[in-house]
Formats: sequence, structure tokens, C-alpha cells
Amino acid sequence: MDIRLASLPDARRKKPPTNPAELGFGKIFTNRILKADWDAHQGWHDARIEPYGPLALDPAAKVYHYGQEVFEGLKAYRWQDGRVALFRPGMNAARFNRSAARLALPEVPENLFLEGIDTLVRLEEEWIPSAAGTSLYIRPTLIAVEPRLGVSPADQCLFFVILSPVGAYYAAGFNPVRILVEDYYVRAVPGGTGTAKTGGNYASSLVAGRKAKERGFEQVLWLDGIQRRYVEEVGAMNIFFVIDGALVTPPLTDSFLAGVTRDSVLELAGTLGIPLTVRPVEIDDLLAGVRDGRVSEAFGTGTAAVISPVGVLGYKDEIFTVGSGGVRALTQRLYAEMTGIQCGRLPDRFGWMHEVR
Ligand SMILES: Cc1ncc(COP(=O)(O)O)c(C=O)c1O
Repeated sequence: MDIRLASLPDARRKKPPTNPAELGFGKIFTNRILKADWDAHQGWHDARIEPYGPLALDPAAKVYHYGQEVFEGLKAYRWQDGRVALFRPGMNAARFNRSAARLALPEVPENLFLEGIDTLVRLEEEWIPSAAGTSLYIRPTLIAVEPRLGVSPADQCLFFVILSPVGAYYAAGFNPVRILVEDYYVRAVPGGTGTAKTGGNYASSLVAGRKAKERGFEQVLWLDGIQRRYVEEVGAMNIFFVIDGALVTPPLTDSFLAGVTRDSVLELAGTLGIPLTVRPVEIDDLLAGVRDGRVSEAFGTGTAAVISPVGVLGYKDEIFTVGSGGVRALTQRLYAEMTGIQCGRLPDRFGWMHEVR
């Protein structure tokens, strides 16, 4: 699909911040937005790149009332030699359309998703920061814009992509996080929307996140929605443990998100000869293992932090310190390998990086 380029008036042309410390996460947006429309009669049409700005939607747009929307998150990295590369964008395109199908939204053609992002990133290249650990976060989104209050799949939708330069996640060092095991609220249930990246999953997680913060934890560890017995995810990340020296992660179920980083860590660990087991993890066993030292490391995986070491687990009124509570060798190694490939410091032996320029 051709993408029409609208001109960007000088008055609306902002410059990227020069100090990487100002970036933070998702606070600053670039000058342009990619948009395309869909309706049930014409299908996808009018792909265009316009100046970034507020969307004018009818207050009856279905997304506002029934949350019919999905989104993605991926990153573009600037390498030291000046090249720009995205990490596994095809995986995000595929997951976006699986999410769309679950929310009764139209699938976005893969070439519109991928070529649209490439074009937008090239146009906004000056916004890709170069300091260590920084990147350009890409947020594709699909929303139901049909102005009708009847509860049914929308027959008009908008796809858009915005870009945000983001700072180093570990600006103050690679720090372990404190996680509260949530024993009341659940994120998803079998047959629900847990495998989709849709706003409602995040809206419904907020009270648990707030509860965790009030108790001095940074994130929530989600248990399965039926028995609250099996470990599923941590915050907006997948979870790994090192148990008896082997890397362990729960198998994908139909209630949690299939992370691109999770998939990559599994592939990477396999080639590094790290023993690997994908199996259900029971919370009681896990905590007993943390107590007796069999669980020596724990970390979350996700696009934002890549790998996030877990230092402490809180469950009911007890505190469980993983290993020494600091960052251990395997977590550190996987982090160095993953970020090395993403930032072009290490050879891309898996063909993960997609060069944009
Ligand atoms: C609920 C949830 N789980 C897991 C992940 C990790 O997925 P990925 O590695 O693709 O970023 C994310 C973030 O995208 C998420 O929101």
C-alpha cells in the first residue's frame, strides 16, 4: 500500500532533546504519526504520514466505551556505525494481528505494518538516540472509531503508529526489582484476552500494581486465574527462573502474552548450552526453592527492560530473597548477549535485526 506523505510545517517541527537523561519512557513523541483507515466497505485505505497531533474522534467512538483496541511495542536501535535496526518486527506484526483477531478487529496487512514503520522511522531518524541503553520505542495501535453505542465489532477503525525516544532503563545500574505475588486479583483467565495486547488487560492490572507499590514492591507477579497456583507473568514481562542450575519458564498458555523477548531468550539460551526447561511453575514449590536456595536467579523479560532481575518476592506476609538478592551470573550473561545483539555490539547470529538504514 502506498503511503502518502503530508508536509510538516516548520512551526510544528520540534527538535529531539539532546540530553539522554531527559528521555524517560514514553513521555516525548516525535514530529510525525503514521495513520491508515479501515472500513467494512473499502477495507484498508489512505495510509499516510502526518504531523503528530491529537486525534479528533467522535465521543461515541467504540474504543472509548468498549475498549475495542490493540497495540504493540517494539524498538529501533541506533548502532555505533550509524546503522538503524529494529528487533524482530515481524514477531510484533504477527502478534498484533493475533491480538486484533481476538478483539474482533480487522487484521492490518503485514506490509502496511512493517513498511509503514520503516518509512516512519526513516523520516524520524534524527529522533533515535545514540547513548548506551537508549532507543526509539515504536507504538503501533489499532482502535475502533465507529461512532455507535451498540455492542458489536466496529465497522470503522484507525491504525496508527507513534514513536517515542526512550532513555536507558537501567540509568542507575542493573538493579533487581521487588515483586509482590498477587494472590487476589488476576490478569487473565483461560478463554479470556490474556494472549492479546489490548488496553483492557492493562487497565484491569492497575489496582494490583498500585497495591504492590503501596507495599513497597515495584511490580506484580500474576498467578493463573483459576487456582492462583501457577506462575504466569510479572508486570508487563514474562518470567524466568534458574532452578537447580537450569533455566525454567512456564509454557505459553492461552492466558498470557507470548513475549518476543521470551522467545529470543529461549533461543539464545539453547545455543549457549544453558540447560532449559519449559514447564509449569507452582508458586508453593517456587517459594520453597527460593527458601532452600534451589532457585538461585529470577528475571523478567520484555521489550522495555529486555531483562529485569528479580531480587525479592513478597507473598502474603512473607518476604523471599532470591539468591543473594543481587544480580547473578546467568541473568547478567543473557542481558549482555541480548543487548549486545540489539545494539549491534555482537553478531546477529539469529537474523533477528531488521536494518532500516
Ligand atoms: C503482559 C505482558 N507480558 C509480556 C510482555 C513481554 O513481551 P515482549 O517481550 O514482546 O515485549 C509484555 C510486553 O510487551 C506484556 O505487556
